[in-house]
Amino acid sequence: MKKIMRVAIIILTLAALLISVSACQRRAAAGSGGFTVEEGVLVMVTNAEFPPYEFWDGGRIVGIDAEIADAIANKLGLRLRIDDIDFNAILPAVTSGRADMGMAGMTVTEERKQSVNFSTSYATGVQVIIVRDGSPITNADDLSAEGANFNIGVQEATTGDLYTTWDLEDEGLATIHRFRRGADAVQALVTGRVDCVVIDNEPAKAFVAMNRGLRILDTEFAVENYAIAFALENTALRDAVDGALRDLIADGTVQRIIDKYIKVD
Ligand code: ARG
Repeated sequence: MKKIMRVAIIILTLAALLISVSACQRRAAAGSGGFTVEEGVLVMVTNAEFPPYEFWDGGRIVGIDAEIADAIANKLGLRLRIDDIDFNAILPAVTSGRADMGMAGMTVTEERKQSVNFSTSYATGVQVIIVRDGSPITNADDLSAEGANFNIGVQEATTGDLYTTWDLEDEGLATIHRFRRGADAVQALVTGRVDCVVIDNEPAKAFVAMNRGLRILDTEFAVENYAIAFALENTALRDAVDGALRDLIADGTVQRIIDKYIKVD
């Protein structure tokens, strides 16, 4: 009986060992190229309301981020899938492992770094102020002037929201109106529900071009870097994507894509 027990224990130990060795191998194999939510697919979440970085065009999501992501996926031998969700749902989708990466003209901030890892930065953004023609707001300081109390429109959870909330609303200097889409904030400006909109410069240009009577103030609210966000624990995928991105920056592909969408005037 004792002998049978001993043999059984040895067999069980061996089996356990085998299982853990093969699990290690699986992880190592996946780890070399980074593992993705769906095999062979790079799942990117974005908010396609942000021209020229991501926007719908004839049933397809196009733009700078979409094209860079496509080039990255090609390099890694993966198929790219882009899911369009609310901007404030992007980081939760990444941290919960529902998506592989978040790419949405997303600014690298210290707060976001607490919950996600960022790639190398691939573009620069500037927070600007859009006003109606003839607006009393002529520069950023006007927003924080004593007793100003302007109504400011932003896209919810963007840096435009965070900065104006911290710098102005929390100080009792302004009221922030948060919209699901940047375009909705701009519509509120057109109809006079808000006095200005704080948003990234390139979408600002696109929105101003689509609407009459608006202009962008020649004043910068903040300068920031855009990067791709990954779950903290998926460093293998971050490294793989980052390597591909660095190559695409080095060989001029990223600049070519940016130049295709942003014409310098
Ligand atoms: N750069 C800003 C941020 O990271 C705004 C990004 C908005 N992007 C979008 N696809 N809607 O907060």
